[in-house]
Amino acid sequence: MILVTGSTGQLGSCFQQLSKGNPSTDFLFADSEVLDISDKKCVQRFFMEHQNIEWVINCAAYTAVDKAESEPEKARQANVKGVKNLAEACAACGATLIHFSTDYVYHSRQNTPFEESDSVSPKSVYGSSKLAGERAALKVYPQGTMVIRTSWVYSPYGHNFVKTMLRLGAGRDSLNVVSDQIGTPTYAPDLAAAVMQIIHQVESADVSKEKIAGIWHYSNEGVASWYDFAVAIFELSHLKCRVSPIKTSDYPTPARRPPFSVLSKSKIKATFHLDIPHWRQSLEVCLKEMDEKV
Ligand SMILES: NC(=O)c1ccc[n+]([C@@H]2O[C@H](COP(=O)([O-])OP(=O)(O)OC[C@H]3O[C@@H](n4cnc5c(N)ncnc54)[C@H](OP(=O)(O)O)[C@@H]3O)[C@@H](O)[C@H]2O)c1
Repeated sequence: MILVTGSTGQLGSCFQQLSKGNPSTDFLFADSEVLDISDKKCVQRFFMEHQNIEWVINCAAYTAVDKAESEPEKARQANVKGVKNLAEACAACGATLIHFSTDYVYHSRQNTPFEESDSVSPKSVYGSSKLAGERAALKVYPQGTMVIRTSWVYSPYGHNFVKTMLRLGAGRDSLNVVSDQIGTPTYAPDLAAAVMQIIHQVESADVSKEKIAGIWHYSNEGVASWYDFAVAIFELSHLKCRVSPIKTSDYPTPARRPPFSVLSKSKIKATFHLDIPHWRQSLEVCLKEMDEKV
């Protein structure tokens, strides 16, 4: 059985969607009401009640990047303590933990894609809490934890940049968007599908369980600034809103973001033979999906 925590968030919702086309796979979805990962007793009880958990896909996290600066303890509870609780429970029952982390663990002058082995130096409370969470899980359960660092996640669900741009763009003639933060958008359904491909490869013994342990990167292909991303959103959705590039210094936020956080996907692509779509291609898919939902 595959347990998906944080099941009503963006990524969790994508697994719920995927499960509908996968009737032969046994999923168990748990939202924050049913399973608060920061509550150790609750986690232990949950695992006692569900003895057949083989995989845990942890989509639960504190993701309010700016708010985290003023409530670091809340971020730590979910992103560090919660992840440790899950890793301990997985280690006790032999389940494999797939956990997601962020490009915000990187912050340097580098301008070539980050490899998993590159040094980390988060500059925000959120980034630091995510790094501490990765480390806690890998310390408790090194042989059974897969950490996937991803970036700029969006989907038809929850709150994200694409939905914000569509909302703002529909009511305004022009918008300023930062152009000096460079990264890669990730369409959450692509990431969810990649995770399922990895699980299937392990279950069919194409890849050994031990091989998936450690740190991995996944985002869509290509490179963009938030400005490029906004321009593409308006272009593909035929919104007439004009976008002007601005500097990060002209749009101060409580949390510092990395100026460059493009992730190298070489390792995950080579190991699992993944074919990752370009971000623009996936953005088109997302906008079409959202259009059909209206
Ligand atoms: N979004 C991004 O741009 C981005 C970028 C890089 C990495 N990531 C990582 O990708 C993963 C998925 O992100 P996402 O965008 O899907 O996040 P999301 O939409 O904010 O969803 C997070 C979910 O976690 C739940 N949650 C929070 N605290 C919890 C707790 N203590 N116990 C159980 N559930 C809890 C939330 O439930 P409630 O709403 O009920 O609190 C929510 O459903 C996270 O690990 C995130 O750090 C995201």
